[in-house]
Amino acid sequence: MTATRHPGVPQIVLPGQAAAVPGPLDMTNMYLAHYGFRRDLGRLLVAAGRVGLADRARITALHEHLTWVLLVLHHHHTAEDETVWPRLRRRAPEAAEVIDALEAEHAEADRWIGESETAFAAFAARPTEEGRARLVTALRSLGDVLGAHLAHEETEGIPLMMAHITPEEDAEGHKGIQKEYGLSGMLKLVPWITSDLPPEVEEHLRRTAPKGLLLVNRLVRRRYERRMAYLWG
Ligand SMILES: [Fe+2]
Repeated sequence: MTATRHPGVPQIVLPGQAAAVPGPLDMTNMYLAHYGFRRDLGRLLVAAGRVGLADRARITALHEHLTWVLLVLHHHHTAEDETVWPRLRRRAPEAAEVIDALEAEHAEADRWIGESETAFAAFAARPTEEGRARLVTALRSLGDVLGAHLAHEETEGIPLMMAHITPEEDAEGHKGIQKEYGLSGMLKLVPWITSDLPPEVEEHLRRTAPKGLLLVNRLVRRRYERRMAYLWG
């Protein structure tokens, strides 16, 4: 897991990532988010399959965590749907087929996002083995559909972004996303997005991430890790 290099822009590589296409945009935030979705949807699937039906406190905590992961996913997809795809459509009409497919994959993921939310709410309200089976199916399907989409985006979507979106536009997009989260959201997002990283990526972030974010991370990390240790059991 080494960082690949384009003049001036090293790209990180995380477990599960399908590609690290070189180019002028720093894709660190994108890859960290993708890793977070893969990591936590996998863990939620395992935890939902094992949690005791009488362990209501942990079921509630897992439900809250799914809600959080889906909120991050919602912000992530909304930014792409509202800004990235329309821009690429205008600038790269020859890539319409790829953009259509990436958009359709968001819609397919939405179906399983909805089913995961409904199934987890029902399971949390009344934990039964039938409810667990429905939930596990929903989470596994969401992981499969989203996993295929993220890989497609990494191999075919990101090269289009690299070719047709400027670093200034990309930075503007990141600022917009930070605003959406607000301060309390960022206090949750920062430890989530930097959780369980390979050491060389941690080192990369220590060198390149904004100092303010590193400070926030130091302040909230221990509490976040305690919470995760409880969640995953
Ligand atoms: Fe996407």
